[in-house]
Amino acid sequence: MLMLEIKNLHVEVDGTEILKGVSLTFETGKVQALMGPNGSGKSTLAHALVGHPKYKITQGQILLDGREITHLRPDERARAGLFLSFQYPPSVSGITISKFLRTAVNAQRTACGEKNFSVVEFHTILKEAIAKLGLNPDFIRRYLNDGFSGGERKKMEILQMILLRPRYVLLDETDSGLDVDAIKIVADGITKARLDTTMSIVVITHYNKFLEFLSPDMVTVLYNGAIVASGGYELAKRIEKEGFGGITHGHA
Ligand SMILES: Nc1ncnc2c1ncn2[C@@H]1O[C@H](COP(=O)(O)OP(=O)(O)O)[C@@H](O)[C@H]1O
Ligand SMILES: [Mg+2]
Repeated sequence: MLMLEIKNLHVEVDGTEILKGVSLTFETGKVQALMGPNGSGKSTLAHALVGHPKYKITQGQILLDGREITHLRPDERARAGLFLSFQYPPSVSGITISKFLRTAVNAQRTACGEKNFSVVEFHTILKEAIAKLGLNPDFIRRYLNDGFSGGERKKMEILQMILLRPRYVLLDETDSGLDVDAIKIVADGITKARLDTTMSIVVITHYNKFLEFLSPDMVTVLYNGAIVASGGYELAKRIEKEGFGGITHGHA
């Protein structure tokens, strides 16, 4: 029962149907890749899963560990264990990374009825996470997204992921134009995060180096709002070699 199940999901944006009946299962502890050409609906699926109000679910169901979350609010879904990294995290001025992370972690603890961490307690936890990821300790004193490079934004996301320990992580990396170093930061972060939690990771990506680092257990291809292929890592390798043409050909 420990899985995220999507059953016949139909999603509309501004009155246009974008997802046309997607059924997919994300198993706990597995790494899965969601691929597909631009505009196929990958980000739409991610947003609908976390409950973004613009993405209207008109049919179908989302079940998290057997519990229906189709109509829950985004914060309730987050509490249930879903985490979405955004392609373009917002820039918030005047707040340090350390403060932001403490606020996020304490909000989650409040929601779960747990005692908040004091500044001192949180500092210890944050220092451990920083060391685990091999980041420069000065990083957490910087201001959120203030002139961050792509790689630094990724470090921030990964730190957040490690501290919040969600059970299902959606990483939407399609259009972020990351360089190899940034990709490696994310891939290493995921690998480390998986050592002590059973996280299920869904990486949304074009064919690229990401998958080489992560070797996903399963690859699914979305095209025009529907799933057109699924398989193991070899499917990603085939797409790397041949592009999407061979797979999407013949699909509406
Ligand atoms: N917020 C939105 N407003 C209007 N159209 C959207 C919105 N989000 C997505 N779409 C449309 O939905 C389709 C799928 O987009 P998207 O999910 O971003 O694809 P992908 O992430 O696979 O590139 C595209 O045709 C896109 O124009
Ligand atoms: Mg996208």
